[in-house]
Amino acid sequence: MEDKMKLRIMEQREVMKGYTDADADDEVTDQESGLPQPALDKACPGSPVISLPRDFEDILTKRDIMDVLEQRTSRRQYADGPLSLKELAFLLWSSLGVKKVIGKKNHATLRTVPSAGARHPLELYVFVTGVEGLSRGLYHYLALEHKLEYLGEVEDQENRVTAACCGQAFVGTAPATFFWTAVPYRSEWRYQAKAQKYILLDAGHSCENLYLACEAVGCGTCAIGAYEQPLADELLNLPTGPSYDNDSEFVIYIAPVGKI
Ligand SMILES: Cc1cc2nc3c(=O)[nH]c(=O)nc-3n(C[C@H](O)[C@H](O)[C@H](O)COP(=O)(O)O)c2cc1C
Repeated sequence: MEDKMKLRIMEQREVMKGYTDADADDEVTDQESGLPQPALDKACPGSPVISLPRDFEDILTKRDIMDVLEQRTSRRQYADGPLSLKELAFLLWSSLGVKKVIGKKNHATLRTVPSAGARHPLELYVFVTGVEGLSRGLYHYLALEHKLEYLGEVEDQENRVTAACCGQAFVGTAPATFFWTAVPYRSEWRYQAKAQKYILLDAGHSCENLYLACEAVGCGTCAIGAYEQPLADELLNLPTGPSYDNDSEFVIYIAPVGKI
């Protein structure tokens, strides 16, 4: 390994660590400075909004946690046929759904997944090719309202999603493909640079919930870490490149979903 790479690895490893002496001199956080907390979630005003079912009792095919854990696996082949809207709704809710809004001044959400300081810095988008009752195209999950916003058709969707995922065709052709984005400032407002570690851990929890929820309703998924950042961000019409803007948002995780 070249020295340049060793140096890069050494620097990047620091992101995975907890508090060290280097953090002791940090400036006061934006939260401590009294700056307003960022919005709890993002909405795209003007987009058509679709209500989602919230009663999932009749679609659960496995309820035993042991069965779910034993049988969880990464699934890269899906049966022909669409997901039902209720299945998609269940998978979205399991991955990021809001159960309660708490707090008086600074509100926070309690969700189906944990998040450091309940900052919940993730957003969830879905590329749909086969979900009953939904047109093809790109959707954004309104977690607070448990609704979907339709962001529109995406030209050459399957090929572009596949290309963004380094040629993994099963991702582009899946009935539904989840794209998680991070809005880092939601966490940085309180945790500054340490937020980066927490945001990645948060994403892992969310995707694991998707795995387990899939297993419970006869669906399958596969975490996707191999994707090309600029192509993935362009697909969601997000700006590409480095930034420390408070409204900065970029893709951090992807997972296709289909029936098994
Ligand atoms: C962070 C992460 C990134 C991954 N990226 C990919 C990927 O890009 N393509 C893929 O086919 N599988 C990917 N996987 C799935 C792993 O290959 C899979 O979890 C591993 O082989 C173990 O198999 P299992 O999930 O069935 O237990 C990823 C898994 C994780 C957790």
